[in-house]
Amino acid sequence: MENTMPYPKNAWYVAGWERNLNEGEPIAMSILDEPLVIYRAQGTGRLVVLEDRCVHRFAPLSLGKCEGERIRCGYHGLLFDSDGKLLGIPGQDLIPSQANVRCYPAVFKHSWIWVWMGNPALADEALIPPATGYDNPDWVLGHGDLDYQASGELANDNLLDFSHVPYIHAESFALGDSYANERPKVTAVERGIRVERWTLNIMGTATAPRPEDNLVDHWVSYDFLVPGIMLLWSGMYPAGTAQSLNFEKPDYSQAVGVSIDSHMVTPMTSRTARYYYIGGPLRGQGDEAVRDLRLRIQAKAFAEDKRIIEAQQRVIDRMPGKQMMPTAHDLAVTMYNRVVERLIRESGTAERVA
Ligand code: FES
Ligand SMILES: [Fe+2]
Repeated sequence: MENTMPYPKNAWYVAGWERNLNEGEPIAMSILDEPLVIYRAQGTGRLVVLEDRCVHRFAPLSLGKCEGERIRCGYHGLLFDSDGKLLGIPGQDLIPSQANVRCYPAVFKHSWIWVWMGNPALADEALIPPATGYDNPDWVLGHGDLDYQASGELANDNLLDFSHVPYIHAESFALGDSYANERPKVTAVERGIRVERWTLNIMGTATAPRPEDNLVDHWVSYDFLVPGIMLLWSGMYPAGTAQSLNFEKPDYSQAVGVSIDSHMVTPMTSRTARYYYIGGPLRGQGDEAVRDLRLRIQAKAFAEDKRIIEAQQRVIDRMPGKQMMPTAHDLAVTMYNRVVERLIRESGTAERVA
């Protein structure tokens, strides 16, 4: 069966947490079905990402050992430079000039390891989305990750359409019915879409409750950017604010209970994805206890999403070729997918994975 991975290669993908990468200890990762070995060079600490497949007999280099900036295959000892060039073969003087492994542009930013999967000449750091790393001092942030046995697209669809919140997350987020009954505003932004919505007259959110006699209007805005990044801001205002603003964007400096989230769905293979998330309250409007409560609620909610997304994938795989039936809530999904299709077309790098 042939599966498609509708992702543009000319984009930055999150490949892991900066803090989990120790000097001289290579790790394995897969993005878009391409095996990667990632390491910090010994001595310089420089980030190196190479194809995780030795040219000799295809042993993964992630099972090898770092030697300074270089990495030596753990099977028969071929030595590669940090740009993927084959430098040495034990017991053989002739080194084939074409026998290199691919090297990927990579940077540390916002607590993450970012890898450019496309043409290295086009790798522009300015295209890394403006996520908020968990060490940003303006916020009290926590983080986590989980794996889906499902495609990254299904996880993206889930984040692009919050009308599932009253159904999947009735207990965890407890935000009432309006997420299903009312539609958010969806607009185009550079390399993605923006989703904005007011929820009126609520008691607050699970992590920022308001007193009973003080109902609030809750504003949520997020950008969902290629190749699967969600940057979300939420805050509360006195009830009536939304109406007085004609449901337009509020002044962020006047909000209370403000929190921020940066999430990324990395497509590892056509049937596996890793979900990375960072989030928490604005410093001064929430502390470590609020952050941790928030993380616990999110962990429960993400498990709820995971259960249904993985089940959805199993149904899709049992009955391939069936057409889905869009609803009014799929506007953001459709608009985002158009951006993806355009970027794939522009870069001519549509991926087909058997
Ligand atoms: S497979 Fe790497 S040296 Fe043989
Ligand atoms: Fe969800």
